[in-house]
Amino acid sequence: MEDKILAMVDATLDESIAELCEFLRIPSVSARSQHREDMIRTARWLKEKLDQLGMETYIYHTPGHPVVFASLCPYSERPTLLIYGHYDVQPEDPLGEWETPPFEPSIRNGLIYARGATDDKGQLFTWIKALEVVKNVTGSIPLNVKVLIEGEEEIGSPNLHAFLLEHKERLFANAVAISDGSKYSRDIPAITYGLRGLSYLEIEVTGPRIDLHSGSYGGVVRNPINALVQLLAKLTDDKGRITIPGFYDDVLPLEPWEREEMARLALNESELRAYLGVDALFGEEGYSALERKTARPTFDINGIWGGYQGEGAKTVIPSKAGAKLSMRLVPNQSAKRIDALVSDFLTKNAPSGVKVSVKPLHGTDPVIVPRNLPEIEAAQKAIHKGFGRSPVFIREGGSIPVVSTIKEVLGINSILLLGWGDPDDGPHGPNEHFAIENLRNGTKSAAILLEELAQLQVGQ
Ligand code: BES
Ligand code: MN
Ligand code: MN
Repeated sequence: MEDKILAMVDATLDESIAELCEFLRIPSVSARSQHREDMIRTARWLKEKLDQLGMETYIYHTPGHPVVFASLCPYSERPTLLIYGHYDVQPEDPLGEWETPPFEPSIRNGLIYARGATDDKGQLFTWIKALEVVKNVTGSIPLNVKVLIEGEEEIGSPNLHAFLLEHKERLFANAVAISDGSKYSRDIPAITYGLRGLSYLEIEVTGPRIDLHSGSYGGVVRNPINALVQLLAKLTDDKGRITIPGFYDDVLPLEPWEREEMARLALNESELRAYLGVDALFGEEGYSALERKTARPTFDINGIWGGYQGEGAKTVIPSKAGAKLSMRLVPNQSAKRIDALVSDFLTKNAPSGVKVSVKPLHGTDPVIVPRNLPEIEAAQKAIHKGFGRSPVFIREGGSIPVVSTIKEVLGINSILLLGWGDPDDGPHGPNEHFAIENLRNGTKSAAILLEELAQLQVGQ
């Protein structure tokens, strides 16, 4: 049966590509209100796909973008798998950097180029295809399945916590599968057992009532941009450490076994430098690049503004300045606690003569999921069959807000984070792409995993 499933994935690959391209053509950018209708269109497109699988499907409206939910649970003695994905994508800018338009999928050298190709439409689509293939080959889907697809992941899943709480019973499952990340490298598939969290803040510094002539008033008033950069410079040192007192208090140190494991994975730092186009990597002293990008917290300024940015020079002391700040968090830091700690530090250290206000935008807690579960073993087997190689275990530096929410609200510990992308797919950037080989092998792995999970005892 397995061979038939694998062969069917191959046989229907062209059809899958065409369907995925249809999905990618809808510009479901959650951050922009002009795409509201597109979000609804995408939710309907998904609902139709899930309807075709014979699932009971719903589109739930939320205060933001709709959630698509489907379930097909005919077995009382078999496990239930909850599949999660997101249909929203990041804004396409910088548009000028795309070789082909972001919402007109284009295939070059075995790669599908489009916004959302890898994050997360392409990866999510492997699960829909896997369900379809298994159903067509074997006559039925072998376990209870629920599918939860949201449209607000890229804006921090602001309505998902409430949604999970409200539908707690309906969302019950023994395990969760999420494909929204990447393999360890192009050739080595991976199972992710940790994700970083995120604390995202916006700071505004206000000085004089109006913009001023810097000749007439320079020397008597504090410039808000000067104040902002001085304040932000206090948050880190030149060794890549964050200097806010208490910031590292809850950080779980890397265990020796984990450091050994990461050292064995041997991230190729010179390749990484070349890919990034920098002559040196930078990060917290005392940790390897792989440790720093997945298991240590960071602070970044994501945007900064104020004053004159147009052509030529303008002598002005601006009235206001601001910045967007984010911290990647690691277990056991809490986004709420870090929000408060950083806001407090910034307001307490506000220089005289300006007002500092800080607004949290969104937060997500970091997670570690257990590795020694029968479901993980099933995933290892399935990935071996799909990709022809055993997966390694990795932690990822990105964040998926739903994961900590699933743990907290639904109490599910068995969370399978199975990224099918390549690390250089370019999610969020221009020319984002997803390899057809990963579409193929991801679909195969997902299909085999459905079969493997169906064999497990309920209650494990
Ligand atoms: N799929 C990513 C998360 C991700 C990135 C996982 C890299 C593994 C490796 C997700 O869509 C994402 O971009 N998340 C945001 C979360 C934020 C908006 C709350 C992130 O990490 O910035
Ligand atoms: Mn994603
Ligand atoms: Mn993303």
